[in-house]
Amino acid sequence: MKVLVVGPGGREHAMIMSLLRDPHVSEVHAAPGNAGIAQDVPVHPLNAQDPEAVVALARDLAADLVVVGPEAPLVAGAADALTEAGIPVFGPSREAARIEGSKAFAKEVMAAAGVPTARAVATSDLARVREAFEEFGAPYVVKDDGLAAGKGVVVTEDRDRAEAHARECLDAGGSVLVEEFLDGPEVSLFVLSDGTHVVPLQPAQDFKRVRDGDQGPNTGGMGAYTPLDWLPEGFTQEVVDRVARPVVDELRRRGTPFTGVLYCGLAVTSRGTRVIEFNARFGDPETQSVLAVLQTPLGQLLLDAARGRLDEDRALEWAPGASVTIVLAAHNYPGAPRKGDVITGLEDAAHEADTWVVHAGTDRNEAGELVSAGGRVLAVVSRGADLRQARERGYRGMEHITLDGSHYRTDIALAASEGRIETPVTPAASSPGAGHAPAVDGRPAADAAEEQA
Ligand code: AMP
Ligand code: GLY
Repeated sequence: MKVLVVGPGGREHAMIMSLLRDPHVSEVHAAPGNAGIAQDVPVHPLNAQDPEAVVALARDLAADLVVVGPEAPLVAGAADALTEAGIPVFGPSREAARIEGSKAFAKEVMAAAGVPTARAVATSDLARVREAFEEFGAPYVVKDDGLAAGKGVVVTEDRDRAEAHARECLDAGGSVLVEEFLDGPEVSLFVLSDGTHVVPLQPAQDFKRVRDGDQGPNTGGMGAYTPLDWLPEGFTQEVVDRVARPVVDELRRRGTPFTGVLYCGLAVTSRGTRVIEFNARFGDPETQSVLAVLQTPLGQLLLDAARGRLDEDRALEWAPGASVTIVLAAHNYPGAPRKGDVITGLEDAAHEADTWVVHAGTDRNEAGELVSAGGRVLAVVSRGADLRQARERGYRGMEHITLDGSHYRTDIALAASEGRIETPVTPAASSPGAGHAPAVDGRPAADAAEEQA
């Protein structure tokens, strides 16, 4: 089978590496790709926002399957156009992708499907925002829901700051979502769906804040690991039964079946597992770690999903041990990143056992040198017998890499490797008078933060 992977980042590079290991896959192409992807497979220029251009390229290549990595081409209608052209595509239609694109739509679907999530008020009225602050109390969670995306999410103890963010979104003509704060560690669970059936991958954890100790602004993700040994028994099945299947059923019932990966962003709270958000695509950088341990051939799995033939009874195979992903970010990320700095040491990094480099924002300059070309530049991915060994290998690998002004977190998977992640005590299980849940590691502190892709 010939596969075309659409997208420019680390998630796509990780998928390509997995596809190349699938014996059913004879050829992989990428568009537009990046400098690392170009070392592995042929790359093609593409404006992925133009659905007709995606179809034209897939036709030219006679692709048997198109895998769309990022959200933007899906929202632009890439999957709809490919489906119309009769080309199997892994990725949801524009309508189904609204589960990610509109937070209010996601809440509406969750309400209809009875999926547990944070209580929320969607409004474009500042007085109602203030009422919601009173109702839910601190920390305050304010999310932009307008099409003026990118302003993102603010989680803060500071009421003035929360109100200022709400006002900013409303002044831009949009609406906001004010939410109840969810305590407890976050988990990313990717669930494959062919529109009817659902097959979960292994849970992973992402590190959203830019600095160690979950400090600083939110980013697209500074690292990840899998598995999560600290999760309660039966966690994945519970999320499938109470979250993924009801949402997939509800979207099918609405005539907009969801084909692709439903990324369930969850919080393990004192009141049970709650949905924070959905995405309509694989997470980046969690995918780098999850695919590092997935042994089931990826191409066949994604093609089955694209063709409506996912087999829920066939268990996926996972390598034993753990995988850790450490992201190297450019100078000034998550602000406007500096580009064009030379990167060295990648071969040496990959000489560590079970360690490799996944490219994200990389390019070649005129001299042919590898240079930074985005905020998250690359990731070192490693596997080990356990998290401790995977971390050691990954961080040793990272030490070989030089990129002027770059930074990475030194505490990816640290708390988990030391058994320090606690899930909050459920009220029923806690002793009478136990005031509130214990402090939790691996959970962003509640202070002002803005989303940054
Ligand atoms: P979102 O774009 O909805 O995923 O939000 C981005 C990040 O903000 C999440 O990954 C969480 O770290 C945090 N966040 C969002 N909603 C909540 C909530 N209701 N309670 C606590 N933290 C939240
Ligand atoms: N790692 C978070 C995301 O992909 O949205």
